[in-house]
Amino acid sequence: MSAPLEKDGQEDGQKGGTVGAAVTASPTTASSTTASSTTASATAAPILAFDDVRVDYRGRSSTVSAVAGVSLELRAGETFGLVGESGCGKTTLSMAVMGLLPDRAQVSGEIRFRGEDLVTMPAGRRRRLRGDDVSMVFQDPATSLDATFPIGEQVAETIRAHRSVSRREARDRALQLLAEVGIPDPAARYSDPPHRLSGGMRQRVVIAAALANDPDLLLADEPTTALDVTIQAQILDLLAQLKQRHGMTMLLITHDLGVVAQICDRVGVMYAGQLVEVAPVDQLFAAPRHPYTRALLQALPSRAQRSGRLAVVEGQVPDLSEPPSGCRFKERCPHRMPVCDTTPAATPAGAGSVACWLETVDRATNVELAEQVGGAA
Ligand SMILES: Nc1ncnc2c1ncn2[C@@H]1O[C@H](COP(=O)(O)OP(=O)(O)O)[C@@H](O)[C@H]1O
Ligand code: SF4
Ligand SMILES: [Mg+2]
Repeated sequence: MSAPLEKDGQEDGQKGGTVGAAVTASPTTASSTTASSTTASATAAPILAFDDVRVDYRGRSSTVSAVAGVSLELRAGETFGLVGESGCGKTTLSMAVMGLLPDRAQVSGEIRFRGEDLVTMPAGRRRRLRGDDVSMVFQDPATSLDATFPIGEQVAETIRAHRSVSRREARDRALQLLAEVGIPDPAARYSDPPHRLSGGMRQRVVIAAALANDPDLLLADEPTTALDVTIQAQILDLLAQLKQRHGMTMLLITHDLGVVAQICDRVGVMYAGQLVEVAPVDQLFAAPRHPYTRALLQALPSRAQRSGRLAVVEGQVPDLSEPPSGCRFKERCPHRMPVCDTTPAATPAGAGSVACWLETVDRATNVELAEQVGGAA
């Protein structure tokens, strides 16, 4: 029996993650692979398209409108970052892609994977796609791995669930994958249960299983949040390298704009179930347009502040069982106008799009109008 793997590398015991509802910049982020090296062709065909997607969680006494009309196209080969505070619907959107939402979740609109609608696809076909063409890495490796089952066999089983290969072939491929994700001496580790590995090593096993059948699309939902801060950078580097090597498209969900800056090509900003801004990463950081995006960036701590308490965006994400009418950000927005009581549509802005009335309405006219009717501008 091999010794437990306690360390991923140089662990320093420091924890990363959010403070309050803040969107944080990690002090260490993926270093070797940058957005420019992963840039997908802007003309590439969409591999995944969301068309007016809505997800409602129906409860006994109320319904939570967790995703409210998201339309978005992911281009083949890109790394797309999805950001936003906790409770904005990011996980729900990715679970809708995977078909892993609970029964009480009602999904409408279309989610097309290579042109085929996942929402109306027969369950059997969808199961085959999941773990084969489309894979997902979750936040906490503990929830993805069976605690009682040897790690190598968990990867091999994923292969056998989708391919008619012998046990021997599945084992060989699993060993290859474990080596590729950086598990030292995979043959010695193959029979270890997950608890003999550190958190970072467990997440590497989860990534190996996600890659087992060479997916074209990888969804990664906060894949490093549960890990120590130095390990976060290593796992992000690994994901970026694997994405490049396997020619995958990656949807990376994170609350960490530092991560987005390092490895994403484009970014979508979600607020209260809606996509409020989509932009190439450089544009988003250089010229954020939506007031929520600006608030998120302003809440980013400077280098000097990073050791202290992180700033937060003032106010809270509204209760999605009773979302405000019109713009869902209006209660926190310093630019609120009367017209904001109606929902702003996404309009083109540079190489992206923004859903905010500031893009289309003459603000001065609105302020005047507000004063005339005695409303707030
Ligand atoms: N299984 C569920 N049942 C009911 N409501 C849920 C469920 N999962 C998430 N929600 C609600 O949906 C909204 C979006 O949550 P989520 O998708 O987890 O956001 P994020 O990943 O951005 O933090 C929140 O209001 C959350 O409370
Ligand atoms: S639509 Fe209005 S309330 Fe919403 S973000 Fe824009 S200016 Fe602010
Ligand atoms: Mg989430």
